[in-house]
Amino acid sequence: MNAVVSALGLAEDDVRGVLEAASLAPSIHNSQPWRFVLRPDRIELRSDEGGRLRAADPGGRELRLSCGAALFNVRLALQGLGIRPLVTLVPGRTTPGALAVIRRGGSFTTTDETRALLRAVGRRRTNRHPFTDAAVPDGHRVQVVRAAELERSWLHVVDDRAELAVLRGLVRQANRRQLADPTVQAELAAWTGGRASPGHGVPRASAGFVPEPQDEWALRDFSSGAPVERPSGKDYEPSPLVVVLCSFYDGPLGELQAGQALQRVLLSATALGLSASFLSQVIEVDGTREGLRRALGGSLFPQTVLRLGFGSPVPRTPRLPVDDLVVPLPGVPASTGSRNPGGTR
Ligand SMILES: Cc1cc2nc3c(=O)[nH]c(=O)nc-3n(C[C@H](O)[C@H](O)[C@H](O)COP(=O)(O)O)c2cc1C
Repeated sequence: MNAVVSALGLAEDDVRGVLEAASLAPSIHNSQPWRFVLRPDRIELRSDEGGRLRAADPGGRELRLSCGAALFNVRLALQGLGIRPLVTLVPGRTTPGALAVIRRGGSFTTTDETRALLRAVGRRRTNRHPFTDAAVPDGHRVQVVRAAELERSWLHVVDDRAELAVLRGLVRQANRRQLADPTVQAELAAWTGGRASPGHGVPRASAGFVPEPQDEWALRDFSSGAPVERPSGKDYEPSPLVVVLCSFYDGPLGELQAGQALQRVLLSATALGLSASFLSQVIEVDGTREGLRRALGGSLFPQTVLRLGFGSPVPRTPRLPVDDLVVPLPGVPASTGSRNPGGTR
């Protein structure tokens, strides 16, 4: 059933295009926890609490990061239509799950940068495979750091050897903790390897190789007991560019801000020909997140850790149809998309 109606004075097809852009954002375990209320003068972004990962993300921090990434795509898509988006962040202030309200703020002259980022929306992927050994050029680093700054967040490049060793140790420690936690593992299994409900989750084709002792960084294993065979000699690159995305303040507002920064960083990286994967375990485990925060000087709030480099193409992950993302309003026909792959609702 068609749930998309007009909003912001746009034709239905344009609204659909905006929601399609939003749906292509990254999300924790591909849970796609974003929902939209369409009203004549605004689009409201809400979280779908059923998409929350009760074990890995009990406080909903990564849910809000994911929704922030989708919000960035909404802003970008509106800019592409010549509209200046006026965004108010309202986490939890109006209705439970309310995150942001987007209104028309006048007209926008599309720039080359907007066009490049828009082109990257459909090309961006999380790439868990080994990257080449080529170093990320300094000019590229400057651009991804600037991308975070433009979204009022901070991207800390970990290039000091001692700092890298500390971070690597913390990632391993967090990974070990999560591997030993049956609830986290059961949840991971529910969202991976085709066990998630249609349109959700991380398919086996998107898993990286099962971590081996020689791997420098412990990537999350999405192979769900059916390891993806590692061709001989296909080791992970010895020195990827590792960055920590931080917010300047803690809590839902900082997380929504960091989510938008995350997406600007990822799209800027994609536009530069870079691939990225995440090392979130270290942030999900409270003790290691605090250890990382202290290692970075104690004044910023780490929100996610990324590995950047030059990778080869990887397949696209599934997405929900946009009609399923629209919150039905009284008197407007609603879609009936159902979800809840992990039984967490
Ligand atoms: C906040 C956040 C945390 C994530 N953490 C991890 C992670 O620790 N390991 C990983 O492999 N992917 C991680 N991802 C990537 C998601 O699994 C990925 O975005 C999702 O499966 C959709 O695939 P796509 O990014 O290729 O579109 C994370 C994504 C977000 C937004």
